[in-house]
Amino acid sequence: MQGSANLNLMIKAARKAGRSLVKDFREVENLQVSMKGAGDFVSKADIAAEGIIREELMNGRPNYGWLGEEGGGEPGKDPTRRWIVDPLDGTTNFLHGLPHWAVSIGLEHKGEIVAGVIYDPAKDEMFVAEKGQGAFMNETRLRVSARTKMIEAIFATGLPFGGRSDLPETLQDLARLLPACAGVRRWGAAALDLAYVAAGRYDGFWERRLHAWDVAAGLVILREAGGLVEAITPGEDILSSGEIVAANEAIFDKFAPIIRG
Ligand code: IPD
Ligand code: CA
Ligand code: CA
Ligand code: CA
Repeated sequence: MQGSANLNLMIKAARKAGRSLVKDFREVENLQVSMKGAGDFVSKADIAAEGIIREELMNGRPNYGWLGEEGGGEPGKDPTRRWIVDPLDGTTNFLHGLPHWAVSIGLEHKGEIVAGVIYDPAKDEMFVAEKGQGAFMNETRLRVSARTKMIEAIFATGLPFGGRSDLPETLQDLARLLPACAGVRRWGAAALDLAYVAAGRYDGFWERRLHAWDVAAGLVILREAGGLVEAITPGEDILSSGEIVAANEAIFDKFAPIIRG
């Protein structure tokens, strides 16, 4: 695919951060880890990767605003454009030596995500999309699954850890969903969950209490792959509510009502 200059900049930043993360992953037992909240870890690897991405993107586009998970937000001279970055999605996997984590970079323009990159260095899978240009993984066009029957479909989610208050809702979701479908997965990286729905690996995904940086890139990648994605409460803004339900179109109509109760 012929990406725009912005997309190429995002890919370059993701690869550079990916190299730093792979190095840290090889020596993960030596990384210093701190806790931001119950079960919510941050390490030198997250912070180094965010620094690399920030330098690359802000050098390339000094006027754009910035929102990164570890460093927070900063408005830009151009109030219409903002990078939304999760330097390491799946920190808990990373720190346990599980090779399922990713770099996620979204570009927001006037409140809408117009470009997204999710890079999984352990598998060398680069998921990218720009609005109106389709979604790709390593040059291969992405398309959501064609499954239409709930009983054949598998879904990904995130389970509320560390005493999070959304536990009862998620348990109710599971009680309604599990009897109706072929399975539920919890692999631990929301950005990759969205990329996998775009790639047709999962038929759908839902999760509560996510942040803008978990979902920004995935929103455009999934939509460009033909998927439907909405806030769990219809009409809410996904980036601010962080409550998301996504699937291929045929499954969405059956799946979303189950999640919405
Ligand atoms: C987490 C992952 C996980 C999700 C959590 C997120 P992090 O992101 O995406 O799958 O269930 O809610 O916080 O902290 O590893 O970037
Ligand atoms: Ca985190
Ligand atoms: Ca994340
Ligand atoms: Ca993160």
